[in-house]
Amino acid sequence: MKKIVVFTGAGISAESGLSTFRDSDGLWEKYRVEDICTHEAWERNPQLLVDFYNARRRDALKAQPNAAHIAIARLQQAMPSTQIITQNVDDLHERAGAKNVVHLHGEITKLRSSINETATVPLEGWEQHYGDRHPDGSLLRPYIVFFGEGVPYFTLACDIASTADIMIVVGTSLNVYPAASLLQYAPDKAQIYLIDPGQPALSPYGARIQHIRKKATEGVPQLVESILSNAEE
Ligand code: OAD
Repeated sequence: MKKIVVFTGAGISAESGLSTFRDSDGLWEKYRVEDICTHEAWERNPQLLVDFYNARRRDALKAQPNAAHIAIARLQQAMPSTQIITQNVDDLHERAGAKNVVHLHGEITKLRSSINETATVPLEGWEQHYGDRHPDGSLLRPYIVFFGEGVPYFTLACDIASTADIMIVVGTSLNVYPAASLLQYAPDKAQIYLIDPGQPALSPYGARIQHIRKKATEGVPQLVESILSNAEE
């Protein structure tokens, strides 16, 4: 049975009503990334950062998985070796039924210690109150990997990518590193599909990628159907 690796970005959750980052109506058009998603921003104005992620958390909790999240969960159920890596901090893959999702950039439903990048605690509801502390005594901060910080699960993600026969990439501009370089870890023989109606930064990966210019809710279920029917042959 072929090994499938799925790698998703903000575009897969766009049709669930969650904003992407770099589209014309994206979050980084409305906010300066330096004010929100850096360690310096956390030191300078933590309340602004907490308010920003509280709003993201409220939106994410209200959102529902869409047909693309559901198709990926179905693919994993039918082909249990399928592994899912996401840049997204929402939990829509999990709520669609996916298991063992690797979140490269953190998880909005959790907070973390400010001195230990993997010491996380779950948060009930949408609201973080600034000033609450982790059991290790440090201030709790949103469990978001800020720009300039290490990506704790990147090595794990590379190991997973290196086992792919088929890689399905969905809804990412491929602008943020090291996450975007995951495609380079797919073996040369692997077939890579990218489902994204926009213009992701594909040039480093060249001709080996089949770009399907469709929205996630259309392109992902179609591709999953085709993979599952080929697997039955
Ligand atoms: P971007 O906002 O950079 O890119 C979103 C991609 O989704 C674009 O390529 C769009 O064309 C595509 N898109 C929009 N609507 C879509 C739809 N309905 N179906 C499929 N694709 C669609 O988001 P990411 O590449 O995920 O990091 O951004 C990477 C990281 O940058 C994020 O994880 C976040 C951000 O800063 C952190 O917050 C640490």
